[in-house]
Amino acid sequence: MKTVHTIEALRKEIHQQRGNGKRIGFAPTMGNLHEGHITLIKEGLKQSDVMVSSVFVNPTQFGEGEDFSDYPRTLPQDQEKLSAAGCHLLFAPAVDEMYPGDQDTWAKVVVTEVTSRHCGASRPGHFDGVSTVVTKLFNIVQPDVALFGKKDFQQLAVIRRMTTALCFDIEIIGVDTVREDNGLAMSSRNGFLSADEKHRAATLYQCLCQAKKDIQNGNTDFESIRTRANHTLQQAGFEPDYFTICRADDLERAGPNDDKLVILAAARMGKARLIDNIDFSRG
Ligand code: PAJ
Repeated sequence: MKTVHTIEALRKEIHQQRGNGKRIGFAPTMGNLHEGHITLIKEGLKQSDVMVSSVFVNPTQFGEGEDFSDYPRTLPQDQEKLSAAGCHLLFAPAVDEMYPGDQDTWAKVVVTEVTSRHCGASRPGHFDGVSTVVTKLFNIVQPDVALFGKKDFQQLAVIRRMTTALCFDIEIIGVDTVREDNGLAMSSRNGFLSADEKHRAATLYQCLCQAKKDIQNGNTDFESIRTRANHTLQQAGFEPDYFTICRADDLERAGPNDDKLVILAAARMGKARLIDNIDFSRG
């Protein structure tokens, strides 16, 4: 696997591959890679000839007081994992490469509606940072297909809408969440958890599974399902942020007649803010 650090070098590599008629796959990341990220690469290799990944801790998607400076940066290990998975090309730019300091114009991409709730409400500006950097990466890589994890369900919805709205000719693929044996969704932020916290953090997924079961058993009292989940999360040592039963298509609050649902949850455990979700049909 080749690693490049500049836009120019990346474009040169991709231009050559595209000239050979290759289909380009792309999975952007912020590094500190785990099995969840690697699954995106493996899925991408099934969908493309040349798989490109990026490792870039994007400053514009972190708010004031969030974990930008503490975010784990482990490029050598990431390179090894990507290479072992069969990734062909890694783009690992510095912040100045993506956001040159001498630019007078700073343009940002804002996706409306689907960003207004959940993580969009808890982390103001977060999705503007995500959609802006992913637009830049899409323009640089110009992939045929791009892969994103369903673990970040709202992010995937934002990217899908952005791709349609900005007329990117890119197929967006959502990949299922990869979990630890105890059900905890894999996340770079799990590294902030102690062994005991990691054990208790599995409660987040258990609450999602319980709520799904209750709804599929015919319970339509969503408010009581939420209250119960928040109580269980608190008992496990979580500080819940949101636990919301939504329509899977637009992420608006679900009513008793909606069929395709997703339950979105975010909660803080110690130093880590964890998110997870479960999507299902009621019928
Ligand atoms: P990051 O958190 O590094 O995640 C990169 C990709 O891996 C995202 O598409 C995310 O949904 C996926 N992913 C993370 N954990 C996963 C898991 N347990 N199972 C399956 N997929 C998982 O998301 C970002 O980075 C950034 O916001 C980014 C899109 C790169 C823009 O900066």
